[in-house]
Amino acid sequence: MSVQAIRRDYSLSGGYQDAVALDDNHIEERMEETWWKPKLPRQELKALMQRRDGPALWHFGLWFVLLAASAALAIAAWGTWWAVPAFLLYGTIYSSSDARWHECGHGTPFRTHWLNEIFYHISSFMTLREAYMWRWSHSRHHTHTYIVGRDPEIQVQRPADLLKIALDFFYLRSGPPEVWRIVRNACGRPNADMLDFVPQRELSKVYWSSRIYVAIVAAFAIWSIAIGSFLPILFVGLPRFYGGWLHQLLGLTQHAGLGEDTYDHRENTRTLFINPVFSYLYMNMNYHIEHHSVPMVPYHALPKLHAAVKDQMPPAYKSLWEVYKEMIPALIKQATEDPNYQIRRPIPQEPEAAAVRQNADAAKTSAEWVEVGPVEDIDEEDVIRLDHGSRTFAIYRLTGDRFYATDGLCTHEYAYLADGLVIDGVIECPLHNGRFDIASGRALRAPACDQLETYPVERRGNSLYVRVG
Ligand code: FES
Repeated sequence: MSVQAIRRDYSLSGGYQDAVALDDNHIEERMEETWWKPKLPRQELKALMQRRDGPALWHFGLWFVLLAASAALAIAAWGTWWAVPAFLLYGTIYSSSDARWHECGHGTPFRTHWLNEIFYHISSFMTLREAYMWRWSHSRHHTHTYIVGRDPEIQVQRPADLLKIALDFFYLRSGPPEVWRIVRNACGRPNADMLDFVPQRELSKVYWSSRIYVAIVAAFAIWSIAIGSFLPILFVGLPRFYGGWLHQLLGLTQHAGLGEDTYDHRENTRTLFINPVFSYLYMNMNYHIEHHSVPMVPYHALPKLHAAVKDQMPPAYKSLWEVYKEMIPALIKQATEDPNYQIRRPIPQEPEAAAVRQNADAAKTSAEWVEVGPVEDIDEEDVIRLDHGSRTFAIYRLTGDRFYATDGLCTHEYAYLADGLVIDGVIECPLHNGRFDIASGRALRAPACDQLETYPVERRGNSLYVRVG
């Protein structure tokens, strides 16, 4: 049988439903496909998850300065051959907007929500990923990383298409379909795959945002035509193509050649070391296993997370060269003789799993009130998980000894909220960074859209009780 004859079907089924009704009977089902997680004490993890506006503003400020400086260089060199390296530099920095789209999409660089959103929309436009659609797409990618038929972001499909990989160093193979998708969405004509992961109620946002993208790029194109010069369109729109080489060079290292259909990121994702300039432009996404395992950790803390969990991971590649030396022969093999071939990484033995707080002993509780435990078991501005029978809850302690309880599972997909982060009265989900107001349960940030159930909490002496009935 030829390699082409055994091509896998990467289209999204359309029949798969992520959202399982949040009731007691489905908890087991929701937990079936959870990912491997590194073992790290809660306090350490919580410290790594913290965000601050100041460093992120410096980071983005420097990026805009570099962008402006390289643009000035390109204008000064226009009309000479020096314009070629100058525009290549500008385009490379411009295309690193993809890393910024990604990081802001997770909502992790800034502590202030609206700052994340502003930079998310700017960088989404620059990298030509329509902001609303790609937020849902990327949530799906994190839920089903490299699960065939579920993940819409499998960059290298099997058998590997080597020409596509090469063309995408200038975004020539994936770019045109992406631009076409934006145009289609601007006309209100989404494709079937997109409808599989974007909810109906979000579609109008996708359409309007796409129209704005089309209008801006069209304005620059018209400007170019009007003055008879490529200059305007070389600054907006085209840089994502001619400057896309670094994005492709680094992006390929994330998953290419590794496993599919596994729920362990150590088998389908890579971590490698790169030089500080690339690290800055790529926002530390070279620590990719760490990012997928704990997406709530911001870019700047990923090296620290790596140091804390590296004994639980396959060894990090020492350089880009080390990755490509192994990956290129693997992709050639997938392309020419064995599409099922994959690189297998050594995975360390597991340490013991931490015990989960259980309160299944109904005899110790009244009909409705369940004992959580001593107050000091919950740190201020933190959350713990309580399992009671087949149900699970999140119990919160906010500043000023205010206690709250909500459902323990996110309403978007299956994630324990007690693994998330409490920020200013809000709980951020550990899987896709959806947010909920702790006191009311109201959903505040997509992809979380449905409200959480809340439960009364009472302090009796030094113990906490939650009313679950
Ligand atoms: S599981 Fe997606 S936001 Fe919580």
